[in-house]
Amino acid sequence: MKSDEKQSQTPFFTALKDYVKSGVAPFDVPGHKLGRIQNDMIKELGDSIFLYDANAPYGLDNLSNPRGVIKEAENLCAELFNADAAYFIVGGTTTAIHAMIMSTCRARDTVLLPRNVHKSIVNALVLSGAVPVFMKPLIDEEYGFANSVPFEEAKRAIDENPDAKAIVLLNPTYFGAVSDLKRICDYAHERNISVLVDEAHGTQFAFNDQLPLSAMEAGADMAATSMHKTGGSLTQSSILLCKGSRNNYEYIRTVLNILQSTSPSSLLLASLDVARKSLAENGYELTSRAIEMRNYAVNKLKDLKRAKVLDEDYFLENGVFNYDKTRLVVSFKDMGYSGFAIYRLLKEKYNIQAELGEKYVVLFIFTGGTTLNDVNRLVEAIKDIDQIEVDQVFDEDFLFGHHFPEYVVRPREAFHAPKKYVNYLDAKGEISAESIMIYPPGIPLVIMGERIDDNVMKTIKFYLMKGFTILKDSAGEFIKVIDTENWIKRSDEDEI
Ligand SMILES: Cc1ncc(COP(=O)(O)O)c(C=O)c1O
Repeated sequence: MKSDEKQSQTPFFTALKDYVKSGVAPFDVPGHKLGRIQNDMIKELGDSIFLYDANAPYGLDNLSNPRGVIKEAENLCAELFNADAAYFIVGGTTTAIHAMIMSTCRARDTVLLPRNVHKSIVNALVLSGAVPVFMKPLIDEEYGFANSVPFEEAKRAIDENPDAKAIVLLNPTYFGAVSDLKRICDYAHERNISVLVDEAHGTQFAFNDQLPLSAMEAGADMAATSMHKTGGSLTQSSILLCKGSRNNYEYIRTVLNILQSTSPSSLLLASLDVARKSLAENGYELTSRAIEMRNYAVNKLKDLKRAKVLDEDYFLENGVFNYDKTRLVVSFKDMGYSGFAIYRLLKEKYNIQAELGEKYVVLFIFTGGTTLNDVNRLVEAIKDIDQIEVDQVFDEDFLFGHHFPEYVVRPREAFHAPKKYVNYLDAKGEISAESIMIYPPGIPLVIMGERIDDNVMKTIKFYLMKGFTILKDSAGEFIKVIDTENWIKRSDEDEI
């Protein structure tokens, strides 16, 4: 069968439809028995969602050891993304990232990674016990966010840590910046270091030459690719893509079976199957449309008075290797407005939902599902905001710099160490035993094992005062730190 014909099939979804339509008498779980127990969701949404919510019945294969329709669907996915293997994931890209790192790094193995990683990578260090060596991403000092890692910095980290097991890169960062992934892959592979890519925001890359290279095209060993973010599947569904002989495929399966549910949602699996088909048939058109819509917005916004679009030229001029043209970053800094304030204003006044607001910028994501009508609404809203006459003045508390804290001890050690709770204002010099962040973007201000400094305290104070929900384990103004007086550090031999 030719590739096009194969890609037009949906093995898992087709089997699920057949199962539902077969008139089966369900004496298995789930207990709603294909939606036969009425509830408010069925009344509101119709019965389809519950009807198609099966749990691994006979004939629908098993995600823990796929040999039938799930395997066929995964193989089609691998073929589409130019990978040797694809694994369907139902725990979000978080699970794909945990699996990627756990199957490559054992405790005390060195892993090179940019500090502006998502919390799932930090948590993977707790699970694996790997030792992070942080690479410095390019920092945009003007607008206060971190970009991609330049080749020279990746090379430096590799040269200084020739025993590293893996290097982790973002493709792209939340704001759309990418590294010279191919060159880094080549350099790392010459030294037998695996390249693991957090491609949570890069599903679209595989389908359009106007976009940066996808991880698999660049030659990465593994990529955690969020089909649900920009690929069109349901939220929480994701894929782990793998390529090449550095991967131990049997071990990846073992790790996935530690991390994944034994009751994966058939709706999530089916949504991966149909999204893959849609990308195979229309990936180019969908991504071209996303780029076109985004370019249209950039063009319409080129004469703003004080708000400013940070377009691809801006990123490239600041040293970024390449840029994802499905993203729109707009700054309101010169008006004295924070990205957070504009994020809220857009929703409250214009009913426009941005992806995220940061200190000085707001991020908007475009996909093949973005409509011209929505883009026009966005453009008009931004132009409207740009007209606001009153200049805001950033208060003192706002003026904290972009800065990463000092790394003291590996995250797993901090996770297991005895803890105490301190008010964040008294925490200077303490070693954090938790990761603290706002979400999105979910990039920790401090990760467990790092030292809390003035900047961390100032940043937490700012977010608390402005009423942001800070993600951390401890309540209110308290943070969890290592109780160093009672801490007996583990020796190198203690742990595998
Ligand atoms: C860069 C990055 N990596 C990983 C993740 C985790 O993905 P998920 O929310 O699908 O678990 C996110 C989510 O926001 C992300 O932004």
